[in-house]
Amino acid sequence: MAENTNLMEKIVALAKRRGFIYPGSEIYGGLANTYDYGPVGTELLRNIKDLWWKNFVQRRDDVVGLEASLISHHKIWEASGHTAGFADAMIDCKNCKGRMRADHLLENYIESLDPAVSAEVINSLGVKNKDLVVALKTGKVEGLPIEALENIRANLSNLPKKPLVCPNCGENDWTPIRKFNQLFPVQLGIVEGEQGQAYLRGETAQGMFINFRNVVDSTRVRLPFGIAQQGKSFRNEITPGNSVFRTIEFDLSEIEYFFDPEVTKWEEVFENWKKTIYEFVTKQVGVKEENLRWRPHTDEERSFYSKRTEDLEYKFPFGFKELWGLAYRTDYDLTQHMNLSRKDLAITDPQTGKKIVPHVIEPAVGMNRLMLMTLADAYSEDDKRVVLKLDPKIAPYKVAVFPLLANKTELIDKAKQVFNELNAHFVVTFDDRGNIGKRYLYQDEIGTPWCVTVDFDSLEDGAVTVRDRDTMEQERVAIRDLASYFTQKLG
Ligand code: GAP
Repeated sequence: MAENTNLMEKIVALAKRRGFIYPGSEIYGGLANTYDYGPVGTELLRNIKDLWWKNFVQRRDDVVGLEASLISHHKIWEASGHTAGFADAMIDCKNCKGRMRADHLLENYIESLDPAVSAEVINSLGVKNKDLVVALKTGKVEGLPIEALENIRANLSNLPKKPLVCPNCGENDWTPIRKFNQLFPVQLGIVEGEQGQAYLRGETAQGMFINFRNVVDSTRVRLPFGIAQQGKSFRNEITPGNSVFRTIEFDLSEIEYFFDPEVTKWEEVFENWKKTIYEFVTKQVGVKEENLRWRPHTDEERSFYSKRTEDLEYKFPFGFKELWGLAYRTDYDLTQHMNLSRKDLAITDPQTGKKIVPHVIEPAVGMNRLMLMTLADAYSEDDKRVVLKLDPKIAPYKVAVFPLLANKTELIDKAKQVFNELNAHFVVTFDDRGNIGKRYLYQDEIGTPWCVTVDFDSLEDGAVTVRDRDTMEQERVAIRDLASYFTQKLG
């Protein structure tokens, strides 16, 4: 565990040092749970978002895109259940006034029970400790109602174990657990009273449901089909921590995949999406399979309207955590919006004339969390260097071009020429600062797969040295062949 905490610290330090991720509002002392993306972080995040969009929208003939407003009508969130139920369980430490999520506090406590509580002790807890028994067996309490969390907390004293202390100050003096709504309200200036009350969207999903009729009426889509959206979502998250894993604003990418459950088996749609998501993460983003696992939600944590929910989890340095959620939301959302808006969102099958409210399966993933995963998965170090072994598809720069020496005009001119030629095909960077060794180390740390050096021989033979990030092997390649050489490598 200490080693992994260490790894997380190293990733956070690298992210700051090399311009991937900076703390938000830093010069004013920071703003909790906000982050800014530096030059290479912006490229990496953009590459991940573009890869998602290409794979899940542009390369498919059954998914169309959408870009809905971030500021949205309060009724959308009433219909979806967010104003009433989109709440975290919050608990405050009375001693240091630290506020945290009660479910995460309890999960961390259970995880810290090492060795795990024996089956004998669990069995002895009996039915009145049912919630605690489930929590001890699964290690999960996220999503449980407040009463169940309070029940677990109250019954921890039945375990032969230390008290539940505050991770900040070490005291055991807590307020009751209570709800904290995560939606960000916005008061619009143009309308007075309740009508002026809007919300920053808490998810992109609702944009797809409220525009369902618009999309059906304005395009040629036919069931089964998906509507996809990628964009900022806002959640007033209580618990800070772990860099961009959980933040108050983040880039969410979601697909609502609509189908007629009488024609298409939901189990098949669900399994297909599982396969598609897994292939994207392993083959496109290039993440190691041993760090991934699917985890079905327990009955207790699954939303009441969902028939099945599974999370693809990634083994972050701080443990296996949700990366990508896949949920069968039935016809819940469309029905809710029909009821509240009194608009008909049912569609008519052109062949049979049958009217149906389609069911939906929803893959949802945070792009920033995907990015943090790529940093963790790609991080490698030995006694000589730190290397980010990012998949070239998502690396911020594909190629770095250097003149061997920074004070030789003829080398710089030639290197600029190579840079301009490559720049027409790929995102390329140029560096003539310091010596070659330092430039390699810098490019390794930002994950640039290939470095090209223009030397004195290049002026004679029209060839350059290409150095591979992972193997550190070097080869001579003719300048005229460089573009096709890298195109081939990038697949
Ligand atoms: N429409 C369903 C939905 O939004 P979710 O599990 O709340 O589901 C989906 O979120 C994904 O969004 C998560 O799997 C995670 O990748 C990402 N995510 C959720 N909350 C986040 C936060 N506060 N910061 C960063 N990413 C977040």
